Amino acid sequence: MAPTRVVVLVSGGGTNLQSLLDAEATGALSPATVVGVISNRPGVRALERAAAAGVPARVVDHREHADRSSFDAALRREVEAFGAHLVVLAGFMRVLTATFLAGLEDRVVNIHPSLLPAFPGVRAQSQALQHGVKVTGCTVHFVDAGLDTGAIIAQAAVPVLDEDTEESLQARVLVEEHRLLPAAVADLAAGRLRREGRRVYRQP
Ligand code: GAR
Repeated sequence: MAPTRVVVLVSGGGTNLQSLLDAEATGALSPATVVGVISNRPGVRALERAAAAGVPARVVDHREHADRSSFDAALRREVEAFGAHLVVLAGFMRVLTATFLAGLEDRVVNIHPSLLPAFPGVRAQSQALQHGVKVTGCTVHFVDAGLDTGAIIAQAAVPVLDEDTEESLQARVLVEEHRLLPAAVADLAAGRLRREGRRVYRQP
């Protein structure tokens, strides 16, 4: 099977990017291969992780674009330049518009640190603590033009403990993110996922 070319969009630390790179190194991401990384912020740790793995990286700085549409168009050009089949948002903290997403239906996925549809947007773990939920988790979903509203591919649950802070909860959720995201990307690349409306089925 020809490899599925994956471009990873990042904004910060890049531990989810690292989980993809590590999975690729062990063969667990197959038939997907990470061919490029794009950050909307210069100087972030995720870019160092790409460099350490020998994966080419670009910066498309949102602050250099007058509006969302211009940023999205520039981002899309870089994704096309990498010849991407699949785009993975791994800690990418910008909302994408139809300018970016046009023609990429079912080819853009995101990891989010909550059990969607609960707690979309920023600081999901803080939202979970504020609501007093006893279970939270993470979600891999297809990206549409809404805020964390696309069809759900996979989820993992994580307990919320009485003594949790935002940081401790974040760390526990990240462990599951690092397992869930590479598995979902491999499933997608291998054609094991079938979507019917909002429901995504995994076939062995
Ligand atoms: C992760 O927890 C990811 O789920 C979250 O940001 C963190 C990035 O960590 N993403 C969002 O909140 C998107 N709305 P990382 O840079 O170490 O992968």
